[in-house]
Amino acid sequence: MMRVLPEGMQLGVASAAYQIEGGWNVTDKSLSIWDTFGDIPGTIADNTTAKDACKSYEYYKRDVAMLHFLGVMFYRFSISWPRVLPNGFANKISKDGAAYYNNLIDELLANGITPVVTMYHWDLPQNLQDLGGWTNPLIADWFEDYARVLFDLYGDRVKTWITLNEPKQIGLYGYGTRRFAPGINAHGIGEYLSAKNMLMAHARAWHLYDKEYRAKENGTIGITIATDFREGQTDEPEDIQAGLDAMDFEVGLYSHPIFTDKGGFPERVVKLVEEKSKQQGYPQSRLPEFSKDEIEFVKGTSDFYGFNHYSTKFYTRKTYKEGMYPVPSYDDDLGAVWSLLDYEVAILPHCTAIPQGIRKALKWVKDNCNNPPIMITENGFGTLAGLYDEERISYLIKYMDSILDAVEVDGCNVLCYTLWSIMDNFEWSSGLSIKFGIFEVDYEDDARPRKARQSALWYKDLVATRTLKPEYRPFVDNMVF
Ligand code: BGC
Repeated sequence: MMRVLPEGMQLGVASAAYQIEGGWNVTDKSLSIWDTFGDIPGTIADNTTAKDACKSYEYYKRDVAMLHFLGVMFYRFSISWPRVLPNGFANKISKDGAAYYNNLIDELLANGITPVVTMYHWDLPQNLQDLGGWTNPLIADWFEDYARVLFDLYGDRVKTWITLNEPKQIGLYGYGTRRFAPGINAHGIGEYLSAKNMLMAHARAWHLYDKEYRAKENGTIGITIATDFREGQTDEPEDIQAGLDAMDFEVGLYSHPIFTDKGGFPERVVKLVEEKSKQQGYPQSRLPEFSKDEIEFVKGTSDFYGFNHYSTKFYTRKTYKEGMYPVPSYDDDLGAVWSLLDYEVAILPHCTAIPQGIRKALKWVKDNCNNPPIMITENGFGTLAGLYDEERISYLIKYMDSILDAVEVDGCNVLCYTLWSIMDNFEWSSGLSIKFGIFEVDYEDDARPRKARQSALWYKDLVATRTLKPEYRPFVDNMVF
């Protein structure tokens, strides 16, 4: 059935600095944790690197031409901290780094495209990691200083700021496991220390903007949280509880301190981590506490809920056994086992198409986060290759259909939808082989030509007609940028 998009729901596409820019060592840019991590043998599945990636540092004008072709209203991109502040600290601003984003923002505005800027999408300056990175509480100071530099440089033209992209992935994968940079693997400890520090850093940036910039710049600032859905494997009460707990661990840990009236970490997470910590002989819970003042400081610090969503997992405790996960660890604290039931698993399992999950996740946010305005800041599908990407189009259609149910039936307040991603890029530890782009990038060619996939033409039509047409499949022309 054809459906018309709600009036006012804006459409855009997204990328992130490290995944597209390349230019890893130009002028005075310093190394990020991903530059360092990517050089360790065995960390990137296909042994590729992001040293050049899509070369957007050089070819950003072509990116903007693609956006213009799509007709999207906004572009979500991120700023590389070590490109703007080569020392990590705000004592020195890189002239070239600052200029790069000035040029990109001006080019977007000249083409009528609104910049939506993520301040941190995972590429921490390596020297700050050497000082503990997100496990050092002082990072709240460093992040606030960095935020001030960005507001001063770009706040006259950037009116939507996203502080952090996906605290769970930063903390759990980067500090609680080896999956992402910096690969600290301090499971059961690192993910919780960094969770608190990220929330404090985020809140500092929000308060800074609120106090010193909002009146003159009139913009908005919020956080983006990975909000995949988790639910019980069956309708039995224990499974339902496992699903609710998984939502609290995966999403609530980051949303509860900001979006609820009570603030602080979710009760169930506090209780489960405290119990396990005690059993394991820790004199204190491995989950740090917020003081009363900190709870108040973090509460209410997001003008919108930045919502990233790809898929759903189903949980049970029936098959959980002590010792199946590292002890201590986040997985062990949750003490449950997940599956994808009998859904057809996608090439990247975290993109398995379970479209009703996005509706449920949006409803969860409405019910558990004080019905905030929601910016869908990412949704998309990873494939192996090809200009005809039927799998992606069909995923996008089903997910958009489910979003429309969330808006029209459940009354979720969705401001915008952002497709991940504008073009193929460096998919973190999966490397360059996994393709999320609606434009295909030819990495063999030094000029990195970008070709429109069928999904790009399909999205262009959605943007132009604002009508979701399940049967529509455009002709793939040879559109190269
Ligand atoms: C991240 C993106 C990533 C995407 C697809 C999100 O978790 O924000 O950087 O490319 O998922 O895996």
